[in-house]
Amino acid sequence: MAAAPGRQRPAPLLLWALLLGAVLAVDRSNFKTCEQSSFCRRQRNLQPGRSPYRALLESLQLGPGAATLQLVNEATKVPLLLELSGLRENTTRIRIRELHPLRPRFEVPDVLLGEPQPEPLTVTGREEGSLELALGPGGHRLLLTAKPFRMDLLRGRQLLASINARGLLVFEHLRPRPGSFSDKVSSSLGSLWDKLRSLFYSDPPKEPAEEEAAAEGQEGGEGTENADSQSEKPAEEAAEEPGSWEETFKTHTDSKPNGPTSVGLDFSLPGFEHVYGIPEHADNLRLRTTEGGDPYRLYNLDVFQYELYNPMALYGSVPLLLAHSARSTLGLFWLNAAETWVDISSNTAGKTMFGKLLDYMQGGGETPQTDVRWMSESGIIDVFLLLGPTPAAVAGQYAALTGTQALPPLFALGYHQSRWNYNDEEDVAAVERGFEEHAIPCDVLWLDIEHADGKRYFTWDPSKFPQPRAMLERLAAKKRKMVSIVDPHIKVDSAYRVHSELRARGFYVKTKDGGDYEGWCWPGSAAYPDFTNPEMRAWWASMFAYDQYEGSTENLFTWNDMNEPSVFSGPEVTMHKDAVHHGGWEHRDLHNLYGFYVQMATAEGQIKRSGGRQRPFVLSRAFFAGSQRYGAVWTGDNAAEWEHLKISIPMCLSFGLAGLSFCGADVGGFFKNPEPELLVRWYQAGAFQPFFRAHAHLDTVRREPWLFGEENAALIRAALRHRYALLPFWYTAFYRCHRHGLPVMRPLWMEYPEDTTTFAMDDQYLIDRALLVHPVTEQGARGVQVYLPGKGEVWYDVASHQKHHAPQTLYVPVTMSSIPVYQRGGTVVPRQDRVRRSTESMKGDPFTLYVALSPQGTAEGDLFLDDGQSFDYATAARYLHRRFTFAGNTLTASSADPRGSFETPAWVERVVILGAGKPAAVVLRPAAGPETRLDFQHDAETSVLTLRKPGVPIGADWAIILR
Ligand SMILES: *[C@@H]1O[C@H](CO)[C@@H](O)[C@H](O)[C@H]1NC(C)=O
Repeated sequence: MAAAPGRQRPAPLLLWALLLGAVLAVDRSNFKTCEQSSFCRRQRNLQPGRSPYRALLESLQLGPGAATLQLVNEATKVPLLLELSGLRENTTRIRIRELHPLRPRFEVPDVLLGEPQPEPLTVTGREEGSLELALGPGGHRLLLTAKPFRMDLLRGRQLLASINARGLLVFEHLRPRPGSFSDKVSSSLGSLWDKLRSLFYSDPPKEPAEEEAAAEGQEGGEGTENADSQSEKPAEEAAEEPGSWEETFKTHTDSKPNGPTSVGLDFSLPGFEHVYGIPEHADNLRLRTTEGGDPYRLYNLDVFQYELYNPMALYGSVPLLLAHSARSTLGLFWLNAAETWVDISSNTAGKTMFGKLLDYMQGGGETPQTDVRWMSESGIIDVFLLLGPTPAAVAGQYAALTGTQALPPLFALGYHQSRWNYNDEEDVAAVERGFEEHAIPCDVLWLDIEHADGKRYFTWDPSKFPQPRAMLERLAAKKRKMVSIVDPHIKVDSAYRVHSELRARGFYVKTKDGGDYEGWCWPGSAAYPDFTNPEMRAWWASMFAYDQYEGSTENLFTWNDMNEPSVFSGPEVTMHKDAVHHGGWEHRDLHNLYGFYVQMATAEGQIKRSGGRQRPFVLSRAFFAGSQRYGAVWTGDNAAEWEHLKISIPMCLSFGLAGLSFCGADVGGFFKNPEPELLVRWYQAGAFQPFFRAHAHLDTVRREPWLFGEENAALIRAALRHRYALLPFWYTAFYRCHRHGLPVMRPLWMEYPEDTTTFAMDDQYLIDRALLVHPVTEQGARGVQVYLPGKGEVWYDVASHQKHHAPQTLYVPVTMSSIPVYQRGGTVVPRQDRVRRSTESMKGDPFTLYVALSPQGTAEGDLFLDDGQSFDYATAARYLHRRFTFAGNTLTASSADPRGSFETPAWVERVVILGAGKPAAVVLRPAAGPETRLDFQHDAETSVLTLRKPGVPIGADWAIILR
């Protein structure tokens, strides 16, 4: 939960809240605009078309897989090193760093799965002032122009992306603080110092390059080289600008020991009008132009009562942007964990600058174009171009770099009941009983911060939760689980073992002066474990052992909240940027990684406590690229408002595009009290989003599903039962995502990349490829407009089985019980229609196959099945992956992956074929043994054929023939 003043706040915190009213208030002014962020301001003040950078083509070195080349800023003469590599799977990596940095600069660790394997590069062309490189086997070429430096990436004759085309490359080199001793030394020694350094680092000789620079300067023309004129001084020259060496925001001063260190680069994407990604923002799926407003900001923050439809930063950051057109898809992955701003503009001007590159382009000068500009406060430039060409290829390319979604334990796909807070053990028991009595399925009950003893995580309040183990065992007996919150702010209290150990081991983040960094958070004064330190993470993981986390059992899982990190007393409610981490790195360098590491260490703790056997479940509020490997995320502290329900769809779609498939929004809205209609609609929408949890603020009235009358309870029960029946489908979708990286919840254009109608659509979406969902998100809705995509395809209304032809926009009348969901013709969806109290109690239950026929009378689908909780599927091939194919009036069950095997009593109890004619007879042909006739029912009006009791084991091969 956010830094929200709550009624039951302990006195010291209340006092603090009053004192720091401005910090805790609902107020945009708590968060910086670009203008208030000195590096963003400096970079945005640069004018395009005046790049001071020149590539020294003669410095080109072709290493094994990587080409390096020097760039020089002609105004400051500071040399940079450009490193280019073509990676497998149509990915190009571009790195730019200082050739001779004063100190090392931060390079993001632990996010990439490993060092990506480069492909050999070859020089395929050299002309005066430019050269051409072939990048790997995908047929991509890179054209590098020396002055001003720019790069153009081509596939055949198609220009995919231009880099520094607008001349906005910024690299603020490290330098001594003005007036400091080293500054004086360096300026008095002048060029001698440079010579010594260049000797030491043995660069290619400089003189010829400088001569060439002078020569080229004469013929450059067009005013592009006046970089050193007064009016257009580059960011590097702006060291004396206010904010460069010290920056104050509200009452906080950032001491900036390293001065200005920002980096930035622009990308022009010709032919692309639609860009997506860079979560987390409370905005539409399609990113808007940021001209005339603030850029999208990536800086993990605890934003109290966030506003919708704006580019402000929120809790998590994934610096991945996707561009899509009917012709191709590409991705830009900007691997930088510092505060980052992203400007997006549409630009059809500037085409004349292309000069001789025009030869390479196809089409006229009217091609729409999107320009994207990244600006980060520190680190290096490290960017991956994911060249597609399809949406699925880009998803695979990103997954190859950062990994796929961890396969969740099956229970985690069930329903989660949370609130701040379930008061005590009796309350937990009563809520659990409520689900039982009202026959509403539920897998997990959650405990928020009040469960711990004075917000000392890993402990239990002795009066409210005196017997946690017995409580957990009671839940386990009902085949249910619990999640308790474990936040990264640790109460400063010498009697609290977690604190005293962290302090004794030196595991806390430090202040710039070397003491333990302390800030104000839920427990009062708190310190922050340094999750960037691998030793600290190992220690943290060990805290989840059953004998360390007393009262915990194997059905207790974890929620990491407030891990941006949230610091009520800090600048922008987070940690001071000059705080110091393991290895001496500033918090500035790695801020956006903190939450990623918290979730990583917590997930590792859960794995460890089970001896490496069981899959973890950890929900995290903050995230970064790669967080998908460690669990689930959600959209944070939303509100009980219709617009918040509506925006949960684009937000989760955007998370999914950035690899985070296990996304949800607090059902019902965190702040405020939902009216029953909104609550019901939210359950109906949430039942079709990947992570399905109801949660509410401390100050809200109770809202367990049965508290709004029998009619509303019935509607909520129906939505939940629909969710549970579809869990085999959800689980299979997650398995597929885990294997291949395609999002579980995906925008229509990922499946229909040439259908421009879908490009800006974010009120409906697909689950995997088979189900289309258009939740009702309008108050008092009488109907919704549903777009059914796919030329020559058909879709079946899941409720009525009615068939609709595509493409078309369908007006669908709705009542309070309607959830518009459509199954795509040509797919098979496995369900377990005997819904019980939890996923675990449905284990081994029989399956029903819903076969939706295409107009050609075909269908295909699959089912993944394992124990739902361990790593045995990966380590011992204990799983079933079945394939169901319908063609030639025959439904065939076969193995989709013969490597796996898994014992289960589950069988097929029913097959429902949508869009089928009436057969004369239906015959089951098992793999061995005689054919048998099956009973069937045919509904002529809806063309639904129902086959009763095929009775075959789910793991067996068989065929059902319609005669
Ligand atoms: C790489 O790109 C080429 C050219 O667009 C395409 O034919 C190929 O399928 C792509 N390869 C992968 C692995 O996506």
